[in-house]
Amino acid sequence: MNAQSLQPPLLETKNLSRTFGHGQHTVHAVNQVSFHIQPGEIVAVVGESGSGKSTLARLILRLLDPTGGEIFLQDRDVTSLHRSKDLKPYWRKVQGVFQDPFAAVNQFYTNRRVLEKPLQLLDHKPSRKEQEQRVESALLEVGLDPSDVLNKGPHQLSGGQLQRIMIARALVAGPELLIADEPTSMLDASLRVTVLNLLLDLRERHRMGIIFITHDLGQAYYLSDRVLVMYRGELVEQGPVNTVLGNPQHEYTQRLLADVPRLHGWGAALRTDELVAEKSKFESSA
Ligand SMILES: Nc1ncnc2c1ncn2[C@@H]1O[C@H](COP(=O)(O)OP(=O)(O)OP(=O)(O)O)[C@@H](O)[C@H]1O
Ligand SMILES: [Mg+2]
Repeated sequence: MNAQSLQPPLLETKNLSRTFGHGQHTVHAVNQVSFHIQPGEIVAVVGESGSGKSTLARLILRLLDPTGGEIFLQDRDVTSLHRSKDLKPYWRKVQGVFQDPFAAVNQFYTNRRVLEKPLQLLDHKPSRKEQEQRVESALLEVGLDPSDVLNKGPHQLSGGQLQRIMIARALVAGPELLIADEPTSMLDASLRVTVLNLLLDLRERHRMGIIFITHDLGQAYYLSDRVLVMYRGELVEQGPVNTVLGNPQHEYTQRLLADVPRLHGWGAALRTDELVAEKSKFESSA
């Protein structure tokens, strides 16, 4: 139980680790990472390329087995679940969205079939009517018109539309935690803010917890309540977004921020129109 609140964390990791390779060639992709996320909280994970962000995402999604440490969902140890039958109830609550939506779907499926897949995670067999309702309401949540997209294939959509389909797919089973690994990095600058605002809406509407992985400190600043900074597999700093990005303690965080001079000028204008304007200027100058 987290001392700061009466409710258990939505998700917690304790000394979560994953190595690749052996002997001299061992890579500590994720090394003893401990953190928690509460319901309705957005936690950003930042760090340079290769720092272990995606490995952490895959561990939490249980797509990859840890080599050490534990994962708790609502105080339940889920680390020992291995078979997909046992992981189904976990995946109903914890869903992921990834960087490249085109790589994440079978191009030969219709969008309807893509969206119906997670219905298998439900603890009951949904009626045809429930299936349709779940798929349609997920699409409406992400701002897509069901009649416009359901019978098309993924490749008939734009990158922005398809990433919204991927978010809708993640919503179909009604998750409580969303892991978004660089969900905007393949989108145009104008679409990025749309996707970020969609994530904010999901938190407001469903009190969903969101782990938002990005190498873009501006996006972390815009979206998150707390920030985790990873460096070579380790969590070197974590705290409220204003503290970590406003007054970084770790030398590595200071270096990351020094690479983004504009951030310093943003002050405390969190989530205002001014920040959005500032952010798009920043993106277009990048
Ligand atoms: N399947 C794998 N086999 C071997 N090494 C791996 C594997 N997956 C990741 N790694 C290594 O683990 C380290 C962390 O990689 P990871 O992809 O988690 O970083 P990242 O922070 O997501 O980087 P990026 O910002 O480029 O997406 C890297 O050194 C990477 O080469
Ligand atoms: Mg990655």
